[in-house]
Amino acid sequence: MDKLVIRGGEPISGTIRISGAKNAALPTMAACLLTAEEVVLRNIPDVRDIQTTRKLLEAMGVESEGSGGHHKIALRARELSHPQADYELVKTMRASTLVLGPLLARTGSARVSLPGGCAIGARPIDLHLKGLEKLGATLRQEHGYVIAEAKRLQGNHYTFDKITVTGTEDVLMAAVLARGETVLNNCALEPEVVDLAALLVKMGARIEGAGTPTIRVQGVEQLGGANHSIIADRIETGTFVIAALITGGALRLTHCQPEHLQSLIERLEEAGASITRGEQTLTVAAGAKLRAVDVTTAEHPGFATDLQAQYMALMTQAEGTAVVTETIFENRFMHALELSRMGANIKIEGNRAVVRGRVRLAGAAVLASDLRASASLVLAALAAEGETIIDRIYHLDRGYERLEEKLRGAGAAVRRLGRLIPVPHAAGA
Ligand code: EPZ
Repeated sequence: MDKLVIRGGEPISGTIRISGAKNAALPTMAACLLTAEEVVLRNIPDVRDIQTTRKLLEAMGVESEGSGGHHKIALRARELSHPQADYELVKTMRASTLVLGPLLARTGSARVSLPGGCAIGARPIDLHLKGLEKLGATLRQEHGYVIAEAKRLQGNHYTFDKITVTGTEDVLMAAVLARGETVLNNCALEPEVVDLAALLVKMGARIEGAGTPTIRVQGVEQLGGANHSIIADRIETGTFVIAALITGGALRLTHCQPEHLQSLIERLEEAGASITRGEQTLTVAAGAKLRAVDVTTAEHPGFATDLQAQYMALMTQAEGTAVVTETIFENRFMHALELSRMGANIKIEGNRAVVRGRVRLAGAAVLASDLRASASLVLAALAAEGETIIDRIYHLDRGYERLEEKLRGAGAAVRRLGRLIPVPHAAGA
């Protein structure tokens, strides 16, 4: 199994190009199921979750062209011979459930494995299912699968009980081909939802209000092909911003979208970081000593839960005590225990982590438990004295494109041990 070996304690510096957003790429790939014409997606990150999604779509009959290295993929769902998402793939990537809405809308039936629990929380999909039922789908569960059927979906009003990112995306993809008007309330405002809506509009969908709590859709008879470049990965961007700060270094990040990271940037500025925003660039310099600043995760535009673990690593290097409160997932503090093994002083009290800084981190053997927890361990390792060995980094490969290469380009001493192996039972994303 692959491991990362990091020798820390040195500032990193240089320029890093940010990749396309994994969490925008996944729903836009699922959207290709809505049309028989070709959908060309650019700026697709070369990460494992994209390869898994491609496999999932191909198993349904989708033709695909393009290679990860070119960051471009052409998908054509001429015929969907097998409108089904099997357990084998869903168990490795929860976002596979994003095919439910589009399959149902296009073919009138879908059979998708229920995802089960995950390292960071229970993560049910009940709100996706309720939304589809509101649009007229009949649902039943059999042998761990949800089987959805509908002759033609019918527009309706639906209010999500709780804000859900992929839930909003799933129901939105179903609504675009439903008969009549659909009004979705309490929708997620995440940039990835807005990006999906932008692609759907290019395909001929009639959508208003994406990026606001209320999305209105006028259903159309059919959709066509499109060409779309997906947004930059705001979580990868935030991870590198923190990498610069935690090592006391300086980085220039290019091809990013600073407007999607407002909340993180504001907290870091409060903490004393110097961050300059360009249109598609961010320049970060560590400057003076960092002060501890509390954060509470929230839906966009609040502080992203996907940056909580990385921020916690940073707070071990800030002066004072920071309280990090997690409100989105019930079990997203697994990294805290591993950080403590490296010398961090973190006390967990329910959904709050009290981080006392500044401590000296020391390299250790640690275990990655999910994608962002892995990133937090990489960051801590960059700041730690001596060598850290991070095990189970297949989590990182799911969502960070060539992380170690990018860090090495900025002067970090990072190397990979072992070979890439097939993804084991890792739920997440
Ligand atoms: C998306 O997951 C992201 N994944 C996650 O990224 C991210 O952490 C999360 O949104 C929150 O921002 C993708 O976009 C592929 P939710 P999603 O539905 O959509 C509860 C990463 O590291 N809920 O917005 O699955 C749920 O349990 C990851 O890249 C229900 O109760 O998250 C959670 O508490 C991991 N019922 C809350 O809502 C439902 O039907 C928000 O989850 C759906 C969700």
